[in-house]
Amino acid sequence: MEVDLASGSFAVNVKDLSKRFGDKVAVDSVSFEVKRSEVFGFLGPNGAGKTTTIKMLTTLLPPTSGQAKILGLDLRSEGKKIRQRIGVVQQQDSFDQGLNVETSMNLYGLIWDVPKQERRRRIDELIERFEMQEFRKKQVVDLSGGQRRRLQVAREFIHDMDLLFLDEPTVGLDPLARRAFLDFFKEKVKDGLTIFFTTHIIEEAEYLCDRIAVMNEGRIVEIDTPGNLKRRFGSAKAVEFRLLEGASKNLVKALSSSEVVNKLVLDELSGTYRATTSKPELVIPELYRLADKLSLHISSIYIAETTLEDAFISLVKNGSGNDSSHVHSGESYAAASPPRGSFKEAE
Ligand SMILES: Nc1ncnc2c1ncn2[C@@H]1O[C@H](COP(=O)(O)OP(=O)(O)O)[C@@H](O)[C@H]1O
Ligand SMILES: [Mg+2]
Repeated sequence: MEVDLASGSFAVNVKDLSKRFGDKVAVDSVSFEVKRSEVFGFLGPNGAGKTTTIKMLTTLLPPTSGQAKILGLDLRSEGKKIRQRIGVVQQQDSFDQGLNVETSMNLYGLIWDVPKQERRRRIDELIERFEMQEFRKKQVVDLSGGQRRRLQVAREFIHDMDLLFLDEPTVGLDPLARRAFLDFFKEKVKDGLTIFFTTHIIEEAEYLCDRIAVMNEGRIVEIDTPGNLKRRFGSAKAVEFRLLEGASKNLVKALSSSEVVNKLVLDELSGTYRATTSKPELVIPELYRLADKLSLHISSIYIAETTLEDAFISLVKNGSGNDSSHVHSGESYAAASPPRGSFKEAE
């Protein structure tokens, strides 16, 4: 990956970019910058405006207003040059259904003018890396959803690029396959690639991104590192515990009125209490004191970290002032994943 010093240190530079469809403002005056070799994430619920933003930045859709530079090139006047240096994995795939995996990749390499020898070498490498050996001769039309995703992402790496746009590349994949994709992207970033990534899965954004823009209803609510988002917006810590006796109204009442507890939630189904607090070291003795007084017995207790999801939901809520019923919490990702993923989906 070459770095063109003349074009400045930003891979993406966006100022007041908007897109309207009739009355609908899909993207509402967003501004942000993406540094070189950074993984920048757009995190937001369905309809937030992620895809529309990517389509504008990849020259597939003209902006209604605003400006953007991609790799130092002007979005409006230098579209062709931009297209030569970026890659994009769109949310919806578009394949020639009649081709098999190998010929589909070859065609993609031809479009990108990759020399024959190099094309062959890369196809073999990518087929191996994305574990596609057993269906390399299969027609695209006969592939499973996960296999199509692998092909769609793999073929993008047949050509060199400085900046890659990935629009929800892991949708529909199981946790193992998702982890394998994310780890592959991380490798490429180490080699100098810049990635612009969108997801509605919080754990993914946290795992992959250096910085995250939280998007809701066309607007960027906040931009920060995953760690800072957690610190700034996540409720500090949570003390989770259970009682031998299960639910106790008296304890809920007593603990809720404690000064050191911000919020107390009882999950009736599992009988787990979750007390959010910035001072777990004070909540724990208080809890034992109250349990003793009420003749209750604590069967388990631990201090839980706050999740980025807490931060995300509070941002989206505060950002638009409406409820968060449409916010996807995402599937359990980090917790369910083993250390190393496989591109193959679990049967
Ligand atoms: N071609 C279009 N015509 C009209 N409305 C659109 C079009 N594309 C997207 N929208 C609307 O713009 C908003 C943002 O959509 P999108 O960018 O796809 O969001 P996301 O990718 O975050 O789910 C949605 O309300 C969507 O319905
Ligand atoms: Mg989308």
